[in-house]
Amino acid sequence: MKLFKCALLGGAMLLPSAAFADELNLICSADVVICEKLVSEFEASHSDIDVNMVRLSSGEAFAKVRAEARNPQTDLWWGGTGDPHLQAGQDGLSAEYKSPMLDELQDWAKGQAEVSNYHTVGVYSGALGWGYNIDLFKEKGIEAPKCWADLLDPALKGEIQIADPNSSGTAYTTLATLVQLMGEDEAFDFLKKMHANVSQYTKSGSAPVKAAARGETGLGIVFQHDAVAQAVAGFPVGVVAPCEGTGYEIGSMSLIEGAQNPEAAKTFYDWVLTAEVQNMMPDAGSFQIPSNASATPPKEAPDLSTIKLIDYDFAEYGSAERRKALLSRWDDEVGSMPLQ
Ligand code: F6P
Repeated sequence: MKLFKCALLGGAMLLPSAAFADELNLICSADVVICEKLVSEFEASHSDIDVNMVRLSSGEAFAKVRAEARNPQTDLWWGGTGDPHLQAGQDGLSAEYKSPMLDELQDWAKGQAEVSNYHTVGVYSGALGWGYNIDLFKEKGIEAPKCWADLLDPALKGEIQIADPNSSGTAYTTLATLVQLMGEDEAFDFLKKMHANVSQYTKSGSAPVKAAARGETGLGIVFQHDAVAQAVAGFPVGVVAPCEGTGYEIGSMSLIEGAQNPEAAKTFYDWVLTAEVQNMMPDAGSFQIPSNASATPPKEAPDLSTIKLIDYDFAEYGSAERRKALLSRWDDEVGSMPLQ
């Protein structure tokens, strides 16, 4: 928050500076450390814009934007998985914007813009998998799971954490990935069986691997870059890309329809798509693949070309109808089951 911008303009003008400073109300849906870094770097290079940032998981962010539809309090939503951004576009909650930076982006990031009629854009990407505590598995004599099917092993009882897909884009990506890999009924059958091994459904997508890193649970189903972040931080975490294949995210960004500060929002939007800014992400422990084609993917980032990726249907699984139906079926059939 910057104060007293106008107080020095003359003794008679003692108005609060907020009346003069531009504001930007930002929802950030990635890890809080990168969220805070982006805000401080942006404020340092744009001294005329004050950023008010709130960190929310992807599904929570969507719920906030929807709740504010008649009187938007948010200007820009950066990060989080693409599916709720696509749904926000379809529901008229985000505005069309063609950034001058679009030409600098990877095809998958431009594709996200095209499929949403320029209501959202790709900011990073990363594949789904899990991280497990190598020491804990060794101590307990449990074999590290390599495939989705291995997650049903009764030896993993109480060892798995995954987020709730209503709040978390990571968990929704898992749900949509399993449906695409197995078929919908089979995926729900799998999730119901895996429930016997789950100790907790967390709110945030990366929380399960943070718990695994600290030995509070054996394994967290997360984006692989979030497991890498724990290993880079020095925890005994092994990173797994499931053998049957896996889904991935196109982390996205959307300008909110009816935003009170659209110009400040566009300034941040264009700035955060530059290679220079995206190259800062590993300094904040974020190891996604950047969307600017000239940015350097972090050397620690899982190499997507070596991972068996499914042909993830972003348009279908980001559609309002499909997302709502899958979440409601998850609530009825999985979320409602008691934890063991
Ligand atoms: O922690 C970073 C990250 O995994 C992003 O890559 C992703 O977009 C976001 O978190 C998803 O968070 P959540 O599952 O809490 O919505």
